[in-house]
Amino acid sequence: MEKWSKKHLLGIKDLSRREIDIILELSASFKEISKREVKKVPALRGKTIVNIFFENSTRTRMSFELAAKRLSADVVNFQSSASSLNKGETIVDTIKTLEAYHPDIMVIRISSPAALYLLQKYTKASIVNCGDGKNEHPTQALLDMFTVKEKLGTLENLNVLIVGDVLHSRVARSNIFGFQKYGAKITVCGPTTMIPYDFENMGVDITYDFDTAIKKADVIIMLRIQNERLKSSFFPTIREYVDKFSLTEERYKLRKKNALILHPGPVNWDVEISSALKEKVHPLILEQAENGLAVRMGVLYLVGTEKRSL
Ligand code: CP
Repeated sequence: MEKWSKKHLLGIKDLSRREIDIILELSASFKEISKREVKKVPALRGKTIVNIFFENSTRTRMSFELAAKRLSADVVNFQSSASSLNKGETIVDTIKTLEAYHPDIMVIRISSPAALYLLQKYTKASIVNCGDGKNEHPTQALLDMFTVKEKLGTLENLNVLIVGDVLHSRVARSNIFGFQKYGAKITVCGPTTMIPYDFENMGVDITYDFDTAIKKADVIIMLRIQNERLKSSFFPTIREYVDKFSLTEERYKLRKKNALILHPGPVNWDVEISSALKEKVHPLILEQAENGLAVRMGVLYLVGTEKRSL
């Protein structure tokens, strides 16, 4: 009998292919719950989950809260902008205070990867990473992989193209770790200033030619320009960025017929993707959001019932 053995979900890098399969299979079985009249099962009844967001979020925060509620856990939300951090309380004192409520799972988004590891000193709870700066966003990659598997029927040996602000993207890193476990050939494409010099060491191809790369891709992940992390100008003008790296109507026509266009959201329309393509590409981006709820139910169930037989 197989058992889930990971207490935390800190990154896709740490997961085996088998563990990803387990999360995706379980999430598929949870997806149906959100379509029932009574959208609730007792899987995590009696468990307490704290959602801790030090950075802004709509999709991740809302879907983790809903996921916890659909599994019957008690859930409370900590939003840094409305907290006693504004009265000068430190992050460590804040975490110690939240630990005093005996949570079973801490779901956290924070700008520093080191903070996630430090957190383990101050809590007995399982930790789920919802984005640690530029490092990883594991549940985003899991929901992207879930969406691809649902649409294409497989994750094996795909050509995956990741376009845009790769430098600041935790979504790119988690997806690279994830898809590579299934034999994907990954290509990243963006302005020279937004492609990290060490990405070749991760076994990915680098290109600055979107028009050529899009023709071969099975999956195209358009990344958000992370304006909040841009401390200087990484490209001369938006117009120049759009000219080379935006998914325009013309480029859309170059894609393979069944290629999937993903975006983690929120989309800067007419920057990463032309708004003229909204009707064509937004429905799948919204399906990604829907799948995010199922995947987060799967993740919470597994870390919340760690060491139980599957
Ligand atoms: N994709 C994503 O993480 O979106 P939010 O920042 O809205 O959670």
